[in-house]
Amino acid sequence: MATMKSNPQVFTPSRIVKYMLNIAGYRHNIVGKTIFENSFGNGAFLKEIVKRYINEGKRLGYSNESISYGLSRDICGIEKDKSLFDECIKDLDKIVAMNKLIPVKWTLMNQNTLQTKIEQKYNFIIGNPPYITYSALKESERRFMSDNFFVCKTGKPDYYYAFIEYSMNALADDGKLVYIVPNNMTKTWFGDKLRDYILPDLIEIFDFKSEKIFKNILTKSVILHIQKNSKKNLLTYYDINSKETLSLDKREMGRKWIFGFNCDKYEAKFSDYFKAANSIATLLNEAFVVNVINETNDYYEIFLDEETVRIEKELVKKAASPKYINKIKNEYIIFPYSYEKNKLKKLPEDVFINKFPMGYRYLCSYKDKLENRKSDNNAKWYEYGRSQALQHLNQPKLMLSTVITDKPNIIRLCNETIPYSGIFITKIGNYSLDVAKFILESCYFKDYIKTVGIHANGTSYRISTRDINDFRFPKDLICLPSNIEHGGANGKNNLCS
Ligand SMILES: C[S@@+](CC[C@H](N)C(=O)[O-])C[C@H]1O[C@@H](n2cnc3c(N)ncnc32)[C@H](O)[C@@H]1O
Repeated sequence: MATMKSNPQVFTPSRIVKYMLNIAGYRHNIVGKTIFENSFGNGAFLKEIVKRYINEGKRLGYSNESISYGLSRDICGIEKDKSLFDECIKDLDKIVAMNKLIPVKWTLMNQNTLQTKIEQKYNFIIGNPPYITYSALKESERRFMSDNFFVCKTGKPDYYYAFIEYSMNALADDGKLVYIVPNNMTKTWFGDKLRDYILPDLIEIFDFKSEKIFKNILTKSVILHIQKNSKKNLLTYYDINSKETLSLDKREMGRKWIFGFNCDKYEAKFSDYFKAANSIATLLNEAFVVNVINETNDYYEIFLDEETVRIEKELVKKAASPKYINKIKNEYIIFPYSYEKNKLKKLPEDVFINKFPMGYRYLCSYKDKLENRKSDNNAKWYEYGRSQALQHLNQPKLMLSTVITDKPNIIRLCNETIPYSGIFITKIGNYSLDVAKFILESCYFKDYIKTVGIHANGTSYRISTRDINDFRFPKDLICLPSNIEHGGANGKNNLCS
């Protein structure tokens, strides 16, 4: 099952459509109220909207002509895909015919919503907009979004961010917007502009924490209920699974929206004692990470294209990644750097050729691919694509995955080992890495992950280095006498995997 990188052809189940229309209050006295579905697909929302409108028109005693006219006047929609557009109109016509109304001249457009200027303002905007992650967006689309939408100016906005801003601009003075979107919008660091933008008018949020709404898709959803100009200080949060309801003061909400357990009240902060950082990223692991099949005093042997190749031992270090550490024992990494008095030194190309001719020849077989990486500006073709982490690596450290299920699996690494994926933790004070491990395995961290982590799948959460560095916990956790290190930097801490 996939998480959603994009959802262009994922349609909303009928029970959720009804639930969302009820949230908006689109039930009674809706004749004369305008409603807009701006990416209507095959019409999951529009069909229910039209049925409700007809029933209400009949209940209020409107003539068949008035109801048909009202349907055309009050209901508006846009869909980009022509075949979905046609399918929807056919179904809406059937509903009209079944109700013995005269045919409706629908106000439905087959075009790109974000490029459609709409003068009218709507009482309701409801739907499930298209989601496309930034990485999957075309360059032209990214540019269009950043040129036209405030919430897309910086960071890595998803496509639906633009739909939210577009919709908020199309709302009448007290109009309501009810959208279902991925629940990571409450937490991703680059969603903060969007969150700031909607927070003043956001009145309710419905969190489908672990409930799977869309067939074959694991991504979890939230429903946002926005009322234009509501400007309330309180936001009501509904946890659909536990049925728990929280009333939150918007003025106290941080950059990430945290519902439930909030660690802000604790005195101690992880980054005051330790530093969590992203591992190095070679941007071409197939070239740098090697499986050693044999070794002598001077070199390692590896397989390359069914041939045995030798690489100088001094050019290679032990490698580690959270995913493979327990599965692949002989994982090593080409390390075209050195440390002198704990300072990172780069390897000039002429020195590389002379000192490590076998290793240089090996990397040359990947030269085209290496040159095509989107590396840091000053990185040479034979260096790692991202090397910022290297400055801090030459010391004992802990490694953990960015995806955590239940509790983090924390692995100790010695000075020499190079973590090439996941997160690594080093100390910046007097407390040993055992203390960092103890803190990250505590129930406080477990609760914290569930609130700041982004639901990856099932019971797994994705966290960032920033989440770990920002983690606050009771000071007692660190002040246990046994937690203070006496062994010096290389004493108790010299832990190897
Ligand atoms: C996730 S589907 C949801 C469809 C419908 N709202 C529902 O809930 O069943 C998103 C829809 O947006 C349409 N779409 C994608 N980009 C669009 C755009 N720029 N303008 C209008 N529609 C778009 C897709 O074709 C797709 O039908």
